[in-house]
Amino acid sequence: MKIGIIVFSHTGNTLSVAEKLQAKLTAASHSVQLEQVTAAEESPRAEKAGLRNAPDTSSYDMLIFATPVWAFSLPPVMKLYLDQIPTLKGKAVGCFVTQTFPFPWMGGNRTIRQMVSACEALGGNVFHTAVINWTRGRETSIAQLSEDFSKAGK
Ligand SMILES: Cc1cc2nc3c(=O)[nH]c(=O)nc-3n(C[C@H](O)[C@H](O)[C@H](O)COP(=O)(O)O)c2cc1C
Repeated sequence: MKIGIIVFSHTGNTLSVAEKLQAKLTAASHSVQLEQVTAAEESPRAEKAGLRNAPDTSSYDMLIFATPVWAFSLPPVMKLYLDQIPTLKGKAVGCFVTQTFPFPWMGGNRTIRQMVSACEALGGNVFHTAVINWTRGRETSIAQLSEDFSKAGK
């Protein structure tokens, strides 16, 4: 199965989780590409300037989208990226977010709902989601996430 992990990461937390997940899925014999969504300008309001890098999803069988939580929501850059994907029809889709606050109800769950809704509207079949709380149980949650996504990829 060809898996694409598509990440927006401003300070590296989400990217570091994605790299661990990539290593785990690769060890399970999947072909896994990690690609980054980047804004055209380095600023929290960068969405106005558009995207510098918008990875093409068409060649993947499974996609895992990952982003930080910003202001209890999907960051505008990731929203812009998801909005420009033509279709996810027939693809298995996973989503995860990282956040500083200790509980998923402090923005993580809402951000996941926004991602799921965007991916389902594009015809994707969302099979798994996860919230990583950076200041509470991080390592355990990352290990669990890698385990869950690799099971789903079989
Ligand atoms: C503009 C901005 C808004 C944020 N808002 C939230 C928030 O609402 N809730 C939260 O738990 N963390 C919030 N954070 C913290 C990030 O979600 C957290 O540090 C995340 O792990 C960063 O991921 P990254 O290093 O991949 O960018 C915010 C960070 C930034 C820069």
